[in-house]
Amino acid sequence: MRIDIITIFPKMFEPVLNESMIKRAQHKNKVKIHIHDLRDYSADKHRKVDDRPFGGGSGMLMRPEPIFKAVEKIKSQVTNRKPQVILLCPQGKTLNQKTAKKLAKYKHLILICGHYEGVDERVRQYLVDEEVSIGDYVLTGGELPAMVLVDAVVRLLPGVLGDKNSLNFESFEGNLLEYPHYTRPAKFKNMGVPDILLSGDHKEIEIWRKKTALKRTKERRPDLFSSK
Ligand code: ADE
Repeated sequence: MRIDIITIFPKMFEPVLNESMIKRAQHKNKVKIHIHDLRDYSADKHRKVDDRPFGGGSGMLMRPEPIFKAVEKIKSQVTNRKPQVILLCPQGKTLNQKTAKKLAKYKHLILICGHYEGVDERVRQYLVDEEVSIGDYVLTGGELPAMVLVDAVVRLLPGVLGDKNSLNFESFEGNLLEYPHYTRPAKFKNMGVPDILLSGDHKEIEIWRKKTALKRTKERRPDLFSSK
């Protein structure tokens, strides 16, 4: 997979993308991530990328030309696959595990990090394939959401996580939250571990895990039972 990220804060990405699983995925050539400074695509001598809204009102908007130029340049460099162009903004569809799985199937993602009061509507209408939000709260920009999306997607790429089973049993698989986990020591500050987990009876352990996962989901996220 190739991911291009268009941002006015390119430096924000370095520390996050060059650590942990995403760093490993890049080293293993599972993903190539390119960061583009939107200001490089501004025709303005001050590298301005925003302007006032037509019709008045408060706040600034992202101008369309630098964003179009950046996306067109990326598309011209990558001609062998059609990219999915995604705008990170609070108005988008909320990211969930199902969407992450869908996005993990694309060979090329272009992420546009929204800013200010928003982007010129023509970007949405003519350039963007889908809009994604990471939740019903407003952040200062689309950079953190883009990093969240990249993390959620890259870990799903084949060969990125060592243990395939850990993907099968994690939260949201089969619309369930995870069952409780314990590790050594079996006794810690007078707190124990459910006997069943120490019994060695793998069949019973599996039943217990399924039961507790169901109970936990019912208590905390009953909405998951009705979602697909
Ligand atoms: N930009 C600002 N807030 C956001 C959010 N919650 N999701 C995606 N992009 C955003």
